Amino acid sequence: MKYKKIGDILILDNNSSQEDYESLSKKHNVKTIMKIDHIEGTKREPVFKILYGNDTQTINKENGCLFKLDLAKVMWSKGNNNERLRIAKLVEDDETVLDMFAGIGYFSIPIGVHSNAEKIISIEINPNSYNFLCENAKLNKLDNLIPVLGDCMVETPKFKADRIVMGYVKTTHHYLNVAINSLNKGGIIHYHETVPEKLIDIRPIERIKNESGNRDVELLNLTKIKKYSPGVWHVVVDARIN
Ligand SMILES: C[S@@+](CC[C@H](N)C(=O)[O-])C[C@H]1O[C@@H](n2cnc3c(N)ncnc32)[C@H](O)[C@@H]1O
Repeated sequence: MKYKKIGDILILDNNSSQEDYESLSKKHNVKTIMKIDHIEGTKREPVFKILYGNDTQTINKENGCLFKLDLAKVMWSKGNNNERLRIAKLVEDDETVLDMFAGIGYFSIPIGVHSNAEKIISIEINPNSYNFLCENAKLNKLDNLIPVLGDCMVETPKFKADRIVMGYVKTTHHYLNVAINSLNKGGIIHYHETVPEKLIDIRPIERIKNESGNRDVELLNLTKIKKYSPGVWHVVVDARIN
């Protein structure tokens, strides 16, 4: 049986068969067992089934950070664990960081915990995620995190940053232009994209260059985060824009 544990909740693989859920809960020391069929829409909301228990709110500990979340309302991607820490460790002292699709603070919280950023501006459109983002800032004692409820297309132009995290896939390229316009000279963007395998080295960087106008783009790094679907990868490109 395949499963993952998020806080004190067990998420079973969709293909797993009927079990004695009570003994399973005792074995894994969890209060609730769920299946998450898929994550829906732009607000990334779970379509789920509860198999045991009823409380879907938990606190997940990862990389020295605390993430309070409700698995019936917001998503958690275990496969992005390394990337969340990698970005946090790249942040230099006194940077202003803009996290464009902040969710419950997937990137913002580790950045706050593991760096000396001057401030972290975290924009999120889903009110449920935004409320957890605010709670998580308090839970991790971060007073340099500025949560913003709204659409990054509208909110991003109100800020300037040294580093911009674009942790969203599928339509992220539509937001490249607003991101680059808010990036200080010499700043860095972390641009996520789901891309067919044969286009990995071509399409993401080309899209960044196309939206950068006369500004010089330096490719710093390309990381394959995980397989998204057959033949398609979730990648992140780090690029400096002068
Ligand atoms: C769930 S996160 C992606 C997961 C994350 N990269 C991780 O490490 O697990 C994406 C978030 O972007 C938010 N979002 C989508 N479109 C948005 C927009 N236009 N403006 C602000 N937030 C948006 C969604 O509500 C969602 O919370």
